[in-house]
Amino acid sequence: MTTITVEEAARFIGEEIILRGWVYNKRSSGKIIFLQIRDGTGVVQGVITQSDSPSLFVTADKLSRESSVVVEGTLQADSRAPGGCELKIEQIQIIQQPSEPFPIELKAQSPGFLMDHRHLWIRTGRQVPILRIRDSVFRAIRDFFHEHGFIATEAPILTGASVEGTTTLFDIDYFGTKAYLAQSGQLYLEATAMALGKVYWIGPVFRAERSKTRKHLTEFWMAEAETAFYDHNDNMRLQEELVAYIVETVIDERGQELDYLKRDTALLREQVSLPFPRVTYDEAITMLQDSGHKISSGDDFGAPQEAALGDRFRKPVFVEYFPASMKPFYMKHVPEKPSRVLAADLIAPEGYGELIGGSQRVDTLNELEKQLDEKKLPREAYEWYLDLRRYGSVPHSGFGLGIARTIAWICGIHHIREAIPFARQINRLYP
Ligand code: 4AD
Ligand code: MG
Repeated sequence: MTTITVEEAARFIGEEIILRGWVYNKRSSGKIIFLQIRDGTGVVQGVITQSDSPSLFVTADKLSRESSVVVEGTLQADSRAPGGCELKIEQIQIIQQPSEPFPIELKAQSPGFLMDHRHLWIRTGRQVPILRIRDSVFRAIRDFFHEHGFIATEAPILTGASVEGTTTLFDIDYFGTKAYLAQSGQLYLEATAMALGKVYWIGPVFRAERSKTRKHLTEFWMAEAETAFYDHNDNMRLQEELVAYIVETVIDERGQELDYLKRDTALLREQVSLPFPRVTYDEAITMLQDSGHKISSGDDFGAPQEAALGDRFRKPVFVEYFPASMKPFYMKHVPEKPSRVLAADLIAPEGYGELIGGSQRVDTLNELEKQLDEKKLPREAYEWYLDLRRYGSVPHSGFGLGIARTIAWICGIHHIREAIPFARQINRLYP
């Protein structure tokens, strides 16, 4: 007898198989018990009839949700069942039987309760498909960069200086001096790009964000790339290709999961047809003002403005050439218009917010020293970074893609706390 996973079940119709997993749900109609068995790859319906096997029926009747079991049985085609088959159960071995009811019910419960039980919640409903999609997103990112000749690298988490401004730093005591949790691996990727040419990493980053929105976490995963000799336009082309590749890979690999989430994949495909539109920050401000938004030059887009831009273009849209005053010290100024930077944010459709922040980097020592001073950052902490402009500096560009936001958009879910196994938020450190 072969041990199989639910995902493989359709290939074993007519055969006797072994399945290891958990009782997802149980229904009984007098003389028949329906046991839904889940194993992480999917859920299959098992059936036990009292008349066929009275003692098995008694065993099954005692099982509660999330009992762990090994079942044996024969797979039968059933066009009404999800996955196209049903398991006629012939034997059940109970591994562990919970003595209390499983806290997560298969009906609506409050978000606070669910988040307090996140370690159990992840077994149920749409959480499994979302986490499987997350797996595909990570793999798609790695495959994309590998296929484009990028070298995977890493950046440290413990750092001595800020990247994205000093207001969202988590500081820790590092043997008597102050260290910070990395907000981004960018500065280190710039160094490795000068060693290796084209580099990327996927890593956790930290922001002491006071924002309690559905788009903010305090710890999240970012995919960052840095490329020597790329300018701002090369950078945007790489980003749009990456985003389209991620979405297409997920649609191809995780059709069932997207179906479960009721996500319209035709819409997603349409959204990622290339190229993505580009507008300047100044154009975006005018567009928003014309449609009644109270916003002026120098303001960041809030959630309503991001949603409005998404509605207007129905695709991810690059907003480029922000005022330098709004952006970090490392961005190169537009040569013909020094008040603006060679940077773009990629704004998602449907109100999912900023997916990517990217820019061409300052590549001369003078400019960089000036910009550190303007942002009142201590030069000593950045001496090593200044060295990159002293020794063989070249034009280079890079970006960071927020993975949880990307997943939330692809899945069509409201809050990014469901797009990461264990969310860290301003008021959440448990479980
Ligand atoms: O725009 P950000 O701050 O860019 C950087 O950190 C650059 N140093 C990246 C680079 O050029 N290498 O962050 C990049 C992306 C955002 O566009 C957003 O998708 C996501 O990270 N992000 C967050 N996601 C969840 N929670 C938060 N608090 C986030 N802050 C940013
Ligand atoms: Mg940003």
